[in-house]
Amino acid sequence: MSSTKLNSIAQAMVAPNKGILAADESTPTIAKRFSNIDTESTEANRQTYRNMLFTTPGLSDYISGVILFDETIRQTTKSGKSIPELIIQSGAVVGIKLDTGAKVLAGSPEEKVTEGLDGLRERLAEYYELGARFTKWRAVYNISEKYPSELAIKSNAHALARYAALVQEANMVPIVEPEVLMEGDHDINKCYEVTAKVLKECYKELKLHNVNLNGTILKPNMILPGNKLKNKSSTEEIAKLTLKCLKENVPSEVPGIAFLSGGQTEIEATQNLNEINKINDTNFAMTFSYGRALQQSALKHWGKNQEDILNIQKIFNHRAKMNSLSTSARWTEDLDKLNIQ
Ligand code: 13P
Repeated sequence: MSSTKLNSIAQAMVAPNKGILAADESTPTIAKRFSNIDTESTEANRQTYRNMLFTTPGLSDYISGVILFDETIRQTTKSGKSIPELIIQSGAVVGIKLDTGAKVLAGSPEEKVTEGLDGLRERLAEYYELGARFTKWRAVYNISEKYPSELAIKSNAHALARYAALVQEANMVPIVEPEVLMEGDHDINKCYEVTAKVLKECYKELKLHNVNLNGTILKPNMILPGNKLKNKSSTEEIAKLTLKCLKENVPSEVPGIAFLSGGQTEIEATQNLNEINKINDTNFAMTFSYGRALQQSALKHWGKNQEDILNIQKIFNHRAKMNSLSTSARWTEDLDKLNIQ
């Protein structure tokens, strides 16, 4: 595919006032989310829940793309329509999670390396046929006194770059997701320092593998203090350091940045993105690719009453709308409260 075509998919993913819904929780992860609402994680329950999200009226007003898990991209709705078809008809782009998870890194067993490269070329051809036009691969890095190691940073960057090159070869846009986790009692400057190192190494490898950066999307963490640190940072500080880190380490050819929420509350994720966009003086579109921060309230309500579909979709739509507002710094706390059901 030409670089123009890849770029136009990437541009659609970060279109103004829209962001990406990450609904690609792996089977163990969705089981954890469901157990929090006392719901059994059966294939039928996963299908019912996700179908409800994807059939939200006006989905594509605020959602540009949906990331699916392997199980979901093969499912159909009750009326027999395939899930990818449903998403495409709603006006959003279909994405697929490609990695097979973060596994123990031999050589530094307290750390993880993301796997899934074996057979990837063949899997890509199948996902393209099923309707996918973009993909996701998540690497994770823990912060502690000795970690992340040079080895974890280098091996994850290498895998991300090999993944991205294969995805572009198959005419799809790779989301590159190096997630520096927020677990720990480190301060915000440590997160800044580690994220900068991780991003530098990722772009070094992406360039080495001849990945066309204008046909990629970066999905990074925001720069945050560790979740066990007592001293919280202000939204202004988070936004300032996040923007500085991205400006200094992400090549300008990258068309857009879609943040993960990483354990922030729904409001924190929205408010921080809003603040980032207030001061965004780059050419990068800055949007969201949230899982938990888009679904939490809707999922909770669904756990209480699975029949109340219209209201659950309203709750989901409200979250998507609030995040949409934050992509152009138009979100306010009052608006958020005002709209709550
Ligand atoms: P969270 O927004 O819940 O962190 O999930 C985003 C994601 O897709 C992680 O890979």
